[in-house]
Amino acid sequence: MKKDFDIVIFGGTGDLALRKLLPSLYRANYQGEFEASARIFVTTRKVEEVEQFDSIIENALRKYLAADELNEDRKESFLKLLHPVLLDAVDRSKGWADFEEQFNGYECKTRVFYLAVMPSIFGPCCENLSHHNLITPNSRVVVEKPIGYDFESAEKINETIALYFQEEQIYRIDHYLGKETVQNLLALRFGNFLFENIWDAKSIDHVQISISEVVGLEGRAGFYENTGAMRDMVQNHLLQLLCLIAMESPNKLQAEDIRVEKIKVLRALKALDKVQIDRWTVAGQYAGGEIDGQSVDSYLNDLANDDASQSESSHVSRTETFVAMKTFIDNWRWSGVPFYLRTGKRLKKRRAEIIVTFKNVSHDIYAPAGQSLIPNRLIIQLQPEEKIQLQLMAKSLGEEREKLKPIKLNLNLNQENSSKPSSDYQRLLLNAIKGDSTLFIHRDEVKAAWQFIDPILAHWNSSQRIPENYASGSWGPEKANGLFEDKAQYWIDTDKE
Ligand code: BG6
Repeated sequence: MKKDFDIVIFGGTGDLALRKLLPSLYRANYQGEFEASARIFVTTRKVEEVEQFDSIIENALRKYLAADELNEDRKESFLKLLHPVLLDAVDRSKGWADFEEQFNGYECKTRVFYLAVMPSIFGPCCENLSHHNLITPNSRVVVEKPIGYDFESAEKINETIALYFQEEQIYRIDHYLGKETVQNLLALRFGNFLFENIWDAKSIDHVQISISEVVGLEGRAGFYENTGAMRDMVQNHLLQLLCLIAMESPNKLQAEDIRVEKIKVLRALKALDKVQIDRWTVAGQYAGGEIDGQSVDSYLNDLANDDASQSESSHVSRTETFVAMKTFIDNWRWSGVPFYLRTGKRLKKRRAEIIVTFKNVSHDIYAPAGQSLIPNRLIIQLQPEEKIQLQLMAKSLGEEREKLKPIKLNLNLNQENSSKPSSDYQRLLLNAIKGDSTLFIHRDEVKAAWQFIDPILAHWNSSQRIPENYASGSWGPEKANGLFEDKAQYWIDTDKE
């Protein structure tokens, strides 16, 4: 059914809106998701951006959509839905009175407020919405990760938003949950008997969850320097993926049931003491290097070259652009199974992958003495391709009967499914409009994730930890390889194996 709604994007000409939100809404519109009466309000504080609105939007669409998605008809139909709004989200005297008028007579329509702004603005913005009676029972607010800087600040933000919106109206977004393969992962786990009995410490040797990026700061120095990879990626994306791998089957495929199971996983994460933090966590910062034949700068130089950062302190930055860590889930299912997490910027390849490595056969009759078979692996790749593969050992055609080699069974739904896959943000935006919060994060999940992360950050801070340097274009600091105590475990490069 086509959707009729009003959405307001605060920070509407910012990086997130131009790069992800508006292209996703454009795509949803040409795929026939929206009624022509849907309205998309795009706020900005700058008069010149209102004046040049159409060209700002067109440039963004050209930059962030595939060339074959753009055409005049689609563009025209999309631009008709857009309404630029000159408004200061914080200052009630600037633009709010006119803005309020736009909603007279539209009280029954679904309203989505997307706060694509700094968390410090969430509070004043919600207060202004409330002051102008814009929050109706049909309203929702979408907020971006990371929620807060630590447990305490996250709680403050959540409390502030809760003054104006009920928890069911608050949609905390983690775009990794909108990726198609993440949905497939749940289907694979809970829709197939095959995995049910081997999904535990008896059968699984270890799990790796790795998100590597080739990009550096991309003009976000001001944000990143105060955030770092632990808060930007581990506290949310990586821990959410870990939850989906490790959680018990929910009673139903509903938001509440899934959330309960995810929270149990987060609460069961082994709290690391100081010695374990030193041994099991690695922080890194990229030095200069080469990626795809292009030489690239160090983090410190990127920082100094970015106007937005207060670069005085950049020469001594201790911000980590890489994190690798080992962790355990202290419960019956996972006791003793290491979960290795890794993420970093300016690494060798853009890749997001979960690799579940099963135990090896109990008695190996194939491998020559001193060697062992490659264990079975389930490889769930979210990027660059969305695919799931099951790696088994099989006899090579025509070879001697004792020679086995790994083969990969493709469980790749994209090839089977002719309908066009939608992007992560598109799926999540449509769900927020529909009022389906299954793929969003509950306040208690945010809390539990910070409770695990906070002691690590606190220890890094109090011990004055200096991040290890790593060359851009590498797989991160050498020390990350030292997390594995078992020789049969190492960071797996699925291109090579
Ligand atoms: C964002 C982080 O949440 O995720 C960015 O703030 C990161 O630093 C991005 O680059 C990665 O997302 P994706 O979908 O491109 O892997």
